Amino acid sequence: MDTAKIQLITFKSYGDDEGVLIPLESEKNIPFEIKRVYYIHTVKAGAVRGKHAHYQLAQILIAISGCVEVTCESKGEKHTYILDSRDKGLLIEGMVWHTMQKFSSDAILLVLANDFYNEDDYVREYDVFLEEDVK
Ligand code: TYD
Repeated sequence: MDTAKIQLITFKSYGDDEGVLIPLESEKNIPFEIKRVYYIHTVKAGAVRGKHAHYQLAQILIAISGCVEVTCESKGEKHTYILDSRDKGLLIEGMVWHTMQKFSSDAILLVLANDFYNEDDYVREYDVFLEEDVK
């Protein structure tokens, strides 16, 4: 993937009197093949996670419990998204500097990714990100 992409996706919910179900499927409502799943929870108040970009990776972030704020920066533009609904996923693909903060105490952030964990795909230095962002 050469271009950065950020998109808020709304998933279809199946709700009835007994509850709500939201299915997530590779290459269907998730626009890539899911190769890895991880989740972040019990984040201390005031903690800021992320603070990196990726060369290639595509991920979808879903707050399956609680609420979290995600700030994305790409091509000189910065936007903050509030993930507070279980039917919302934030797609972050390619060279996007992102931070996750303001986790509520009950927040669980589920992340679906299109590749396995690979430290070589990370840009952890903000100055390096700025150089890559203008390419
Ligand atoms: P890190 O990238 O610092 O998390 P965040 O972006 O939320 O701040 O990852 C924390 C630790 O977990 C780090 O030692 C790398 C490890 N890790 C894995 O082993 N596999 C994974 O899929 C991820 C995302 C992280």
